[in-house]
Order: sequence, then structure tokens, then C-alpha cells
Amino acid sequence: MRCLYFALASVVVLSGCKREGTAFTAPRKLAGKTVSAEVLNEGQVAYLQYCRACHGDQGNGEGPAAIGLRPPPRNFTQGEFKFGWVLDQKLPRDEDLVRIVRSNLHGSAMVGWEVPDEKLTTIIQYIKTFSDAWKDDDAVGEPVVPAPDPWVGKESAAIARGKLLYHGYTQCLTCHPAYASPEEISAASQQLSQKPTTEFRPHMYQPELKDSDYTAYGYKVQLLPPDFLVNTIKSPRDETQLADLYRLLVAGVTGAAMPAWDPNVLPEKTSDVWALAYYVRSLVQLRQTTAGLALRAKLNATPQPQPGDVKGGPR
Ligand code: HEC
Ligand code: HEC
Repeated sequence: MRCLYFALASVVVLSGCKREGTAFTAPRKLAGKTVSAEVLNEGQVAYLQYCRACHGDQGNGEGPAAIGLRPPPRNFTQGEFKFGWVLDQKLPRDEDLVRIVRSNLHGSAMVGWEVPDEKLTTIIQYIKTFSDAWKDDDAVGEPVVPAPDPWVGKESAAIARGKLLYHGYTQCLTCHPAYASPEEISAASQQLSQKPTTEFRPHMYQPELKDSDYTAYGYKVQLLPPDFLVNTIKSPRDETQLADLYRLLVAGVTGAAMPAWDPNVLPEKTSDVWALAYYVRSLVQLRQTTAGLALRAKLNATPQPQPGDVKGGPR
């Protein structure tokens, strides 16, 4: 009755009524699975109730509550996701999307929404209809499966190895802050790649703002890599969970400058991924501690190394 009344009143509202569960009349094939019109219609209704405020009617991240959110809500029409933890930067599996919605992207506006399970299942199918990326039968990636942790009981050795890789091999410090002296960085790169770093980016003790693939309101979204001593990291279900750090390092943050690390390109393969995870965790655990604040203050006070300050060559 209400719909009829509004339908007569305006075309805009007519489309509003259509959204109340009548948009889909035929099943859709989404990432190789056939999803019924009924599920999609239910998903649409639940989406409008729980997600629309931020992600918008059209799934483009321009909902009424999105204004001013940094980072902005995901634009589902792009068909790209940051925290799927799957290989080859492909699309996440349904269980990955459930994890993302349930687990809270810490420090962002995307908090762990309490949507009933049966509704969430339908919402997840519905959000796939916003992008053609899901039409491809093998659009979805294989999950990252962590290898066994070789460092159990050897935590300080793992942290030391991770610190060496971070500063001397895996280039984390080109985006995230450095946490070591120029001399330590040079020695680490000499040890791991026989090529000592002698030039350092300006403000290397601060994170560097990076472009991403994501857009909002027609603009490219820039993202600040976290300073592990200061910022929360978003996707691990618990920031101190090493296996989740492992998953995100191997998967990368798709579309966000944060590369995916294939363990095979690291000197000690999966053992080095674990070492990086231990090192990141050790920094996270210093956050808001006296030792962490002291380290941040020391880094802030370290002068920018000038050309020639750190000499190249074996030492
Ligand atoms: C209060 C605003 C808000 C609401 C409501 C909201 N989200 Fe989000 N959502 C965000 C923001 C902000 C991000 C981006 C976080 C980022 O990029 O780090 C996001 C990101 C996402 C992502 C992308 C994660 C990735 O790996 O790229 C998914 C999926 C998602 N939201 C699903 C949902 C679903 C499903 C609902 C409804 C149950 C919902 N969101 C409700 C704000 C919201
Ligand atoms: C080319 C730039 C770049 C490099 C190199 C890089 N990162 Fe990142 N990293 C980013 C950006 C940008 C983000 C923020 C993504 C976001 O907020 O959506 C990020 C996020 C992260 C996160 C947090 C993910 C989350 O769930 O919030 C961790 C942990 C991380 N990086 C670790 C590392 C480590 C360890 C290395 C080196 C092995 C590294 N990164 C190399 C750019 C980079």
C-alpha cells in the first residue's frame, strides 16, 4: 500500500520500492556458483538494512554515512578486496568475506557487524552483483595456508631475523617506517643481498602515503601504511595472531601498494615469512608501552642521513 502511494508520487521512490526485494527475477552465476533470485533478493533487503548506510544503494561506497570516512567504505563496483588472504590477488572466498565482516577492520569504520548468519550469507552473494569481476568462473583465489611455524620456542631469533629482512631485503621500509639506524639498515642489506643500502628516502622513520587502486567519489584513494608502533593493523582477527600476519604477508593487501610475498622469493622461504610476522608482532606489542614510546621518540630524533654518511662496500 505504502509502495503504491509513493510510486504514484515519484519515480525516484518507485525505484526505492523496487529495491524492497523484487529486483532479481532470474538466478545469477557468481564466481562459478549459481545463486537463486530469492537469495539475491533477500540479500538486497538485508544489505539495505545493514550495509547501505556506508556502502551505498549502488554499492559504490557513497552511502549517506560515508562522508568523511578515511579510508572510505569499499566501492563494491570495483570488484577488488584488500583482506581476502587468497593467492594471486584474486577475489575472496565466501568464508573470507564472512571473516572480514565479522572480525572488525580495526581502526576503520568497518566494525564487526552483528548481522544474523543467514542474512550475512545472502548479503555476501548480493554484493557480488555490483561488479562484473565475479562473472568469471575462476575469479576466486585459493586461500593462503601457513606452513608450520619453525620458530616456536625461538622467538627472539625470529624477531632478529624478521628485523634483518624488513630492513635489508623485503623493502618494507620503502613504505612503512624504518625502525633501525642507517648503519644497521646498510649492514642488513649487505648481509642479505650483498648490496648495502647507502641512500635513504626522506622521512624514512615515518610511513609514506601511497596511491591505491581504490576510488571514492571519483578520486583515487591514498593509503597510509601503518607505523606498527602507533597504528592498529586492520585485518588480523587479533593483532598478535602470527598465523593471520603470515596470511596477510603472503596475500598482500590487494589494490593497496602492499605487495604479496611469495615465500619462494625469500632466502629462507616460509621460515622468513614467519620471521617477518614475528617482527611485526614485536613492534605491535610495543605500542603504547614505555619502550615503544621511547623507540618512537628516538626514531623521531634521528637526523636524516646525508649522502656519504653511510659508506657502501663490505664491512
Ligand atoms: C559505518 C560504515 C560501514 C558499514 C555500516 C559497513 N561497512 Fe563495510 N566497510 C566500511 C569501510 C570504511 C571499509 C573500508 C576499510 C578499509 O579499506 O580499510 C569497509 C570495507 C568493507 C569490505 C571490504 C574488505 C576488503 O577486504 O577489502 C567489505 C567486504 C565490507 N566492508 C562489507 C560490509 C558489509 C557486508 C556490511 C553490512 C553487513 C558493511 N560492510 C557495513 C564501512 C562500513
Ligand atoms: C609499496 C609499499 C609497501 C611495501 C613495500 C610494504 N607495505 Fe605493508 N602496507 C602498505 C600499505 C599502503 C598498507 C595499508 C593498507 C590499508 O590500510 O588498507 C600496508 C599495510 C600493512 C600491514 C597491515 C595490514 C592490515 O591488515 O591492516 C602490515 C602488517 C604490513 N603492511 C606489513 C608489511 C611488511 C612486513 C612489509 C615488508 C615485507 C610491507 N608491509 C611492505 C604498503 C606497503
